[in-house]
Amino acid sequence: MKKVIFVALLASASLMAAESAENTVNGATRYMQKCSICHGAKADETPIKNMKPIAGMDAQKVASILVNYQNDASQDDARISHGYSEEMVNSTVYLSRKDIDAIATYVSSLK
Ligand code: HEC
Repeated sequence: MKKVIFVALLASASLMAAESAENTVNGATRYMQKCSICHGAKADETPIKNMKPIAGMDAQKVASILVNYQNDASQDDARISHGYSEEMVNSTVYLSRKDIDAIATYVSSLK
């Protein structure tokens, strides 16, 4: 019985590893399609002054920023804590939660 549990644990751990590898690959593709035009191919460029490049930013932070922008799209006059950007709203509005996580993982892995 113990052995069965151990094998099950191992299997789920390798599934998780595969999923995060997939996130990185898919995230890279989606990032290039959706974000690189403004944030640079390696997330090392800045679309506006006084902004830090997003490369290496914590994945959870990137994801929550994207979700905030996305939600803003459905509330015309809503404002979010880090500023308002119509470009960011437009570029996040059609992203799935899965894409957001994949892109966020990818951005945090850069640098
Ligand atoms: C058309 C240009 C454009 C595109 C495309 C774009 N962004 Fe942005 N992004 C901006 C601008 C401009 C800002 C800063 C405005 C603001 O503070 O709201 C910004 C801000 C951000 C921030 C917040 C940075 C900070 O320091 O607070 C993150 C994270 C971000 N973008 C990630 C992304 C990701 C990931 C994508 C792809 C899904 C993307 N952006 C697509 C223009 C763009």
